[in-house]
Amino acid sequence: MLSDLHETTTGTFTGLDPEDGTRRQSDRRLAGADRLPRFSSQPPLEWWHLQPELASGPVRLRELRLSDAPSLTETLGCPKVAEYLSPAPASVAEIEEFIAWTHFAHKAGRYICFGVIPPGSDAAVGVFQLWPIEPSFRTAEWGFAIAHRFWGTGLFEAGARLVTAFAFGTLGVLRLEARAAVDNVRGNAALEKLGAVPEGVLRKCFLANGEYRDHMMWSILAEDWRAAHGDVAGQVTGQVV
Ligand SMILES: CC(C)(COP(=O)(O)OP(=O)(O)OC[C@H]1O[C@@H](n2cnc3c(N)ncnc32)[C@H](O)[C@@H]1OP(=O)(O)O)[C@@H](O)C(=O)NCCC(=O)NCCS
Repeated sequence: MLSDLHETTTGTFTGLDPEDGTRRQSDRRLAGADRLPRFSSQPPLEWWHLQPELASGPVRLRELRLSDAPSLTETLGCPKVAEYLSPAPASVAEIEEFIAWTHFAHKAGRYICFGVIPPGSDAAVGVFQLWPIEPSFRTAEWGFAIAHRFWGTGLFEAGARLVTAFAFGTLGVLRLEARAAVDNVRGNAALEKLGAVPEGVLRKCFLANGEYRDHMMWSILAEDWRAAHGDVAGQVTGQVV
């Protein structure tokens, strides 16, 4: 999944310079962004200038730092985590390279990656990734992985609720897609628990561990999410740094 994103997000999107993948617009910050006390339901049109930090109680999501490389190497190198994913960068050096790439892709408006910071720690033990299916981000896809020792602890659910609130409330996503291998019982159950709707099986769509696997397509629509959770404004606190 992680390495696939290099391919998924290297298409030529409206507003992206096809030569170097950067925005054609000037590199000015979102006007007044540093005065925003929290994210609101008004989507900022230049979100790629922001480095959002989201919090829910003691759970924090923030941009990855190079110092997260050792903990993420451990997370993604665990066979239980890797079982249904395409091969992730394997060494600390490769993860550092991946982290640098996430910063580049974020600034280019192609991709957002949140590191998951558990209570009492400052190192990322997992990731939530979000990327556009449509250039506008109205349709987007997400993927996630959490260190095995945190499975079933509620860390995933707390993080997922922050990311969905951010996607629908801040980015203006209307349809959020996720794919999970059909035999990934835990991944599929986690999505169902969040209110995602299964839409069908994508046959042999994804190469993992040398084998093309069937994936379940899940979606959450902004309108359904709002009906279940109310307006997202005020549900996500974060700072623009
Ligand atoms: C997907 C992932 C982030 C979910 O985090 P998690 O902490 O395991 O998720 P949760 O515990 O909140 O939810 C998993 C659900 O699956 C259920 N579950 C687990 N094993 C199950 C089984 N054999 N049969 C039925 N349900 C099962 C759990 O009971 C739980 O539901 P509950 O909270 O209602 O009891 C984590 O498992 C992970 O990192 N997996 C590896 C990466 C991955 O597969 N990513 C998804 C593809 S993008």
